[in-house]
Amino acid sequence: MKPSIVVVGSFNQDLTWSCAEFPSPGETIVGRFQTGPGGKGSNQAVAAARAGGATAFVGAVGDDGFGREAEAFLRAEGIDLHLARKKLPTGNAAILVNRRGENQIVIALGANAALAPRDVPADLVRGARVVVCQHETSLTLNAHVFRTARRAGVTTVLNPAPMRADFDPRILDYTDVLIPNETEFVTLVNRRGFTEKSLRALSPHDLHRLCRAFELPTVIVTLGARGCFVSQHRGHLFIPAHRGIKVVDTTGAGDAFVGGFAAGLARYDGNIATAARYGNATAALSVTKFGTAPSMPAQRAIEKLLKQK
Ligand code: ATP
Ligand code: RIB
Repeated sequence: MKPSIVVVGSFNQDLTWSCAEFPSPGETIVGRFQTGPGGKGSNQAVAAARAGGATAFVGAVGDDGFGREAEAFLRAEGIDLHLARKKLPTGNAAILVNRRGENQIVIALGANAALAPRDVPADLVRGARVVVCQHETSLTLNAHVFRTARRAGVTTVLNPAPMRADFDPRILDYTDVLIPNETEFVTLVNRRGFTEKSLRALSPHDLHRLCRAFELPTVIVTLGARGCFVSQHRGHLFIPAHRGIKVVDTTGAGDAFVGGFAAGLARYDGNIATAARYGNATAALSVTKFGTAPSMPAQRAIEKLLKQK
């Protein structure tokens, strides 16, 4: 099937330690270890594919064991795979998860940083309904991909995660849907004294006004356990998070949201509100399981949760 969703982005091998509390500087503690496939791009592609979207992933890995495992994993997910091999180690992430399901992450980009325009099949991008990028590959590559998509009338979705010092706001000229979390949104607004605390204190009307200042068709701010806020020219919408959920690990919740949103956008013919509800349900289910890509839910589970609501 021709992919309607193309995710261009990172693969990281996630090396995760669970612990009661994060160690303080200079402290050593004992935790439990697990490793598995991760990376924002790959996680989003897995979320979109499991949510029922015909999905392609364009990424880069090293010629090493992690790279070979990545390829096997993504193929088994039924994803149309375009994986470049680089003479660099496969990207990786050191993740700590505490007993409240909160995380701290350090990543090494490795091969992801070398993903280049020549690795991205232009016809794949032009033939898609939705193209998704994040910030774990080259930001100039993202601009190239979005320009190609825009010329072909393909919807572009930017998840500016993690926010980077070399972010060039000119990519917003080619962005249809911007999906930051609270920290990324505060950085993007870049206003003196504007913090996550002040963001949380804003009325929906004032948050909408701030979102509109980007002059993009759609801005969706993910708000963690509160849900998400959708701002469009014609108005705004707050979608509360699903309640009564046992939170095990929130790592990758943002990726689940973006992947689920992309699948919803492709399925519901560009309906932003319906796609955001789809993303919200995908993310809620993902936090009930440990890990990132492995925690992405199946389409049936997402639709069941949406029906319960
Ligand atoms: P991460 O960096 O851990 O992947 P993030 O910071 O990018 O996450 P968040 O804004 O924390 O993203 O969460 C993304 C989405 O996940 C939220 O918009 C919401 O839909 C869902 N979510 C997060 N935490 C919870 C929770 N405790 N209960 C239900 N849904 C949640
Ligand atoms: O968003 C979660 C992801 O961030 C993890 O899989 C890790 O690889 C980092 O990229």
